[in-house]
Amino acid sequence: MTPQENAATYERVMQEIKATLQGETDLLAAMTTVVCLLHQAFDSYFWTGFYRRVGPDELLIGPYQGTLGCLHISFDRGVCGACARSQQTLIVADVHQFPGHIACDPNSKSEIVVPVFDQAGDLIAVLDVDSDQHNAFDETDRRYLEQIISLLAHFEPAPVIWQQSGATQWKTKHNV
Ligand code: SME
Repeated sequence: MTPQENAATYERVMQEIKATLQGETDLLAAMTTVVCLLHQAFDSYFWTGFYRRVGPDELLIGPYQGTLGCLHISFDRGVCGACARSQQTLIVADVHQFPGHIACDPNSKSEIVVPVFDQAGDLIAVLDVDSDQHNAFDETDRRYLEQIISLLAHFEPAPVIWQQSGATQWKTKHNV
């Protein structure tokens, strides 16, 4: 894909995402839509998905498309952890040169990880896109993916039920 085709594809996907999510308020539905439309649009996307923040220093997989990913990633591990720590987009041209890279699938060769923020500016997830080619991502990918991800700030996270000491509580980012 030429740089022009790459940009044109992102423009198209962004319109598809906006159109699909019109009137939707649920964050999980929005994340699932973003993953699906991005993954289907680019042959170079080998693994496309989110790791959601489920604790002060912990990420949990999903939603995603691609081969099996590892479930939990703490902030001190891998490219996703480094992105969550720095809250900056990371582009890694060769994942095998990245200290601490988590090799969920040996076919993954390069990746881009984009932080996801809510409306208050708090980190709620990272978007991880892997390619089976080296050096697959550049500034165009960063620009468009950050733009697409910024759309998610307007959606409502669904509360997660969890068990603590026998009592069912509602857990949100405010009481992790
Ligand atoms: N690339 C990640 C691990 C997750 S998978 O590739 C699905 C990392 O090193 O953070």
